[in-house]
Amino acid sequence: MKLCMIGVGYVGLVSGTCFADIGNQVICVDKNLDKINKLKSGICPIYEPGLSELIKKNYLAKRLFFSSDVKKAINSSDIIFICVGTPTKKGSLNVDLSYVFKSCKEILKHTKKKKILVTKSTVPVGTGDNIENYLKKKKKLFTIISNPEFLREGEAIRDFRYPDRIVIGSNEKKAFNTMRKLYSPLINKGSKFFKTSRRGAELIKYASNAFLATKITFVNELANLCEKSGVNIEDISLGMGSDSRIGGRFLRAGPAYGGSCFPKDTKGLVSTAKKYKINLSVVKSVIKSNSDRVNLLIRRIDKILGRNLKNKKISFLGVTFKPNTDDMRDSSSLKMIPYLSKKGALINYYDPSGEKQEFKKIKNCFFKNNIRENCYDADLIIILTEWDEFKSIDFKKVVKNKKFKVYDLRNLYSTEEMKLNKIKYYSVGRPLAK
Ligand SMILES: NC(=O)c1ccc[n+]([C@@H]2O[C@H](COP(=O)([O-])OP(=O)(O)OC[C@H]3O[C@@H](n4cnc5c(N)ncnc54)[C@H](O)[C@@H]3O)[C@@H](O)[C@H]2O)c1
Repeated sequence: MKLCMIGVGYVGLVSGTCFADIGNQVICVDKNLDKINKLKSGICPIYEPGLSELIKKNYLAKRLFFSSDVKKAINSSDIIFICVGTPTKKGSLNVDLSYVFKSCKEILKHTKKKKILVTKSTVPVGTGDNIENYLKKKKKLFTIISNPEFLREGEAIRDFRYPDRIVIGSNEKKAFNTMRKLYSPLINKGSKFFKTSRRGAELIKYASNAFLATKITFVNELANLCEKSGVNIEDISLGMGSDSRIGGRFLRAGPAYGGSCFPKDTKGLVSTAKKYKINLSVVKSVIKSNSDRVNLLIRRIDKILGRNLKNKKISFLGVTFKPNTDDMRDSSSLKMIPYLSKKGALINYYDPSGEKQEFKKIKNCFFKNNIRENCYDADLIIILTEWDEFKSIDFKKVVKNKKFKVYDLRNLYSTEEMKLNKIKYYSVGRPLAK
């Protein structure tokens, strides 16, 4: 089939490449010329394991193309996927749908023959109806479908190839069958293919993300209780997670959740519900608890360093919201680092995905090239992101400062082992080793 992906971000680029890999002709377009030029010259603009190689393979096979010519891309495709961002509007909880409707404007302008238009972007319930209304001048040319994407950054290719479910929201039988055909290589390998209404599909995506955010927030709050009551949160997670009604995933305590989805989608769900005069009080308190958590962790850092951050050397291991991605959106580091720097701390950070633009203007904040350079004179090492290379550091060898401390926000090390090595070690929801 001939596909056009509008928006070459984490979703558009990964799904476009994977669609090409299962035999489709895919044109990816983006208004960001720099991204398109990079892709044309063989450079992958995002950090996602395996993606670079897969792009190259399909580009050389002439199944995958990159362009900034929206008109040509639209005209040469049968199915158009909208994969642009849907961030939170500044100063509110509402979803900013301006990128979606700007894409629709282009689509309306250039479409001359019948197309299936698919929203892969996460959009509030009812957006498909609003798009249909927006495109009404050429109503007969479009069938609008919702096909939310569930891939996770860092595991995106695997998630696309082996999704737990593929959700298609459509009332049109013919278009639905076309989508089934498109996804048949994945369905044939066992992925669940699920048909619902367009509004249903839109809401499933928000409901899923809000529920996962709730799980994380719940276990993070329990970790606070564990710290005060001398219980190990990992026992609680295991004990709870072994119940098949609960399930063990997303039950690991850590920093506040971040990333490009949970923060904005929980807010988006609350604001959408408000328009329907529905109060989603559970999701509201999840948002509040998660925001409080960043402040709580900052207070802990302050306490660990004796309530005096002036000239204290703090080294961050990882600044992205999760490993195997370069995505910084809503990572806890974006609040922690500026705050600590303001209080006079000297910050180093190392992240395997590279230096971050976001910290370039922060006073006394420096990117280091590896773990050793980052940590050797640290007073406090903060493990923020669970990259594999942070899981077996010989701290005694790496750090020169004899009095260093470690605050492990991912519980990567055993408290007993750290005690044996005489390292001052703090983690999340686990009692100190006796
Ligand atoms: N990132 C994830 O892990 C993930 C997972 C599932 C769903 N989603 C959803 O998918 C959507 C996209 O997310 P993302 O992370 O890929 O976003 P992103 O910000 O990485 O990419 C969006 C891209 O769209 C481009 N763009 C914006 N307006 C455009 C236009 N009018 N024409 C052409 N290109 C345009 C931008 O330049 C950018 O490259 C969001 O709704 C998000 O919630 C994201």
